[in-house]
Formats: sequence, structure tokens, C-alpha cells
Amino acid sequence: MKAHFPLLFVLLSLVLTACRPTPEETYTPTPYELPQPLFFPTTTNIPADNPMTEEGVELGKKLFFDSNLSPRTSHLPNCCASCHHPEYSFEGGPEATLEHLGTEHTMLPLINLAWNTTGLGWKGTIKTLEEMVYAAYTDPLEINADTAEVVRMLQQSDTYPELFRKAFGTDRISFIQVEKAISQYVRSLVFADSKFDRYLRGEEQLDQDELNGYMLFITENGADCFHCHGGGSNALFTTNLMYNNGLDAEYHGDFKAPTLRNIALTSPYMHDGRFTTLDEVIDFYSDSVQYSEFISPLMHHVMQGGVRLTPEEKRQLKAFLLTLTSQTGSPRSNLNRK
Ligand code: HEC
Ligand code: HEC
Repeated sequence: MKAHFPLLFVLLSLVLTACRPTPEETYTPTPYELPQPLFFPTTTNIPADNPMTEEGVELGKKLFFDSNLSPRTSHLPNCCASCHHPEYSFEGGPEATLEHLGTEHTMLPLINLAWNTTGLGWKGTIKTLEEMVYAAYTDPLEINADTAEVVRMLQQSDTYPELFRKAFGTDRISFIQVEKAISQYVRSLVFADSKFDRYLRGEEQLDQDELNGYMLFITENGADCFHCHGGGSNALFTTNLMYNNGLDAEYHGDFKAPTLRNIALTSPYMHDGRFTTLDEVIDFYSDSVQYSEFISPLMHHVMQGGVRLTPEEKRQLKAFLLTLTSQTGSPRSNLNRK
């Protein structure tokens, strides 16, 4: 009997340790309140298994900007922010030409993506932000990292295990948590405080040129932009759908109509970066639209080569597009907190 005592003791203490509260049970994250700007859709793409929390967004932000989590730390790109820069609407800025980037297509801005329910990328083929994070880390043309290596580096760091515990209730890090945290941060990038938003909210008036430009934007016999790029009743300024907008007479496939918010910050334009200025883009839609059997039926004016604007109308349309810039984000944006 006596001989069994140590064994019993060991068993008992094992049972007791197993019953101690695990970090999961003391996990109390703070829900993150995503704003709902005026005339944004009410449907978001927040997955049931990745609700936004203050802790998750904070961790995602740190990961987004962390250039030490790739085997190629001395080379660019080594994190999301080496391509997606906050000051250029989370695009690459004027340097982001195809030659510079070395990617297949030019960049897309990371703004208001919580409301994208159609698919990501120029072709819309990536269905969730979580998937996009994985793709960006592993794509040889992007971060080109080994996800197991990224997880190992995070697990061995002094700071990350605690941040993962706060965000996900466990300090056993997995790449799925990396995907979740960065996606939460990207969903928090809300831009809805441009001059045009203040006009919609009745806080500021547009000047006469800007108003005329807006009227051109949303009318069929004006510049006819709204079918694909939204407008007052769709303040994302994109349908997030793919179209062929008649750039070329040969087939080049359908591409996403990018948001026109912050369009002044995201040159070069189009999937191949063929235009450097907004004037060139407006000249194209006015005078150089190319017919092919693949062109979207929404390019109603192709038979006249475009919407045929006068120089004054072109100036007004551009003045309106410039009212869509909001460097500071929405009344509640992480940009302010960088
Ligand atoms: C080498 C530069 C580069 C890096 C690094 C990079 N991206 Fe991108 N990103 C791009 C390009 C180029 C596109 C457009 C891709 C396409 O559709 O062909 C893009 C597109 C996206 C989109 C789609 C946006 C939309 O409107 O559909 C998301 C989301 C995105 N990136 C997130 C990220 C995240 C998160 C990271 C870090 C994990 C990251 N990117 C790292 C260049 C980069
Ligand atoms: C039939 C739908 C459609 C219509 C109508 C349309 N666009 Fe577009 N727009 C697109 C698509 C699709 C792209 C991307 C094309 C590509 O790169 O191949 C695009 C690209 C753009 C870009 C470049 C965006 C970037 O980030 O590179 C601007 C600026 C633009 N459009 C402005 C306008 C304006 C101004 C009008 C009205 C004169 C207009 N669009 C009408 C579908 C449309």
C-alpha cells in the first residue's frame, strides 16, 4: 500500500494540473466596432470564425508592417507594407509600375475591403482576405516566405506570443492566426471622410465644377461612369465586379473596376499601369474606347469611341474625382492611430 503512494501522488497532481484554468478560459478580447459609413452596403465579409477585436486588429497591424518575418529581410518585399503604403491609399504610389513591382499586375488599394463580397485581386479570383494573406506570403513574386518559418520566428520572439494570446486566447501560434489578424487589420482600413463624404453628410458644399463633374459621373448622357464605379447611392465607388472597359481591341479578359476613392493617390492606372495621370484616363473614356466583341454592354458609347466630353467637362469630371480623396480615413480609422 505504502509503495503505491508516490504513484497516486503523481497521478493526482497530473489531474490537478490538467484542471487549472488554461489561457483559453481567461481570454477576454474587446470587440472592434467597425463604422458603417453613409451609403456603404450593409453586408460585410467578416467571417463567423474571425470576428474583429481590438487585440486582433492591433496584432494584425504589427504583422502588416513587420519586415523581420521573412527569410529575405534584407530584400524587398518582406512584409505587406513594403508594397502597400499607407500614404498612397495602401497602394504603391508612383513607383508601383509593373517594372518596379515585378508582379503580373499593378496594385490595388486596401481600403473599405470589409465591404467587398465579390472576390479580391484584379480578376476577383481570391475569395477571402484570409486567403489573400496566405497568397501574399507564399507567392514567389510577393513575400515568398515559408509559412512554417514565419510561425517559428513569431513563436520565438519576445513579444508576439503574448500578443497572440491576447488576440486568440492561445500562445501556440499558427499561420491561420496570422491570416486572421492581418485580415482584421485590413478590414479596419475604412476611408469615408473625403470632401464628397462631407457633402453627402451635409457638412460641406461642393463647388460648381465639382458638382457638374458629379452630374456627369452619374448620368448616361454625361460621362456614364456610375454603372461600374458606383456613386452617391453606392459610396464604395465600385461595384467590385469585373468588366471589359474597352482598353484594347484584342481580348485581354475582364478586370475589376477599382474603387475611385483616393484615385488621386494611386497612379499608375489600370491593371497594367498604362496611364500615369487622371487626364489620360479621362481622355481614354472620352475619346479612345476600343470596340471588341468582349466589351461590357455598359460601355454604351463605344460606337462613338467614348463618351465625348468637351475640355470643360473633362476638367469638371476630374475636379469631382479629386473630391474622393481622404488621407485621414473615416472618423474612426487606424490610419490616425499609426
Ligand atoms: C510585391 C508587392 C506586394 C506585397 C508584398 C503584398 N502585396 Fe498585396 N497586392 C499586390 C499586387 C500587385 C496586387 C494586385 C494583384 C492582382 O490582382 O494581380 C495586390 C492585391 C492585394 C489585395 C486585393 C485588393 C482588392 O481590392 O482586391 C489585397 C487584399 C492585398 N493585396 C493584401 C496584401 C497583404 C495583406 C499583404 C501582406 C501579407 C500583401 N498584400 C503583400 C502587391 C503586393
Ligand atoms: C463598364 C464598366 C466601367 C465603366 C462604365 C467605367 N469604368 Fe472605369 N474601370 C472599369 C474597369 C473594369 C477598370 C479596370 C480596367 C483594367 O485595368 O483592365 C476601370 C478602371 C478605371 C480607372 C483606373 C483605376 C485604377 O486604380 O487603376 C479609373 C480612374 C476609372 N476607371 C475611371 C472611370 C471613369 C471616370 C469613368 C466614366 C468616364 C469610368 N471609369 C467608366 C470599368 C468601368
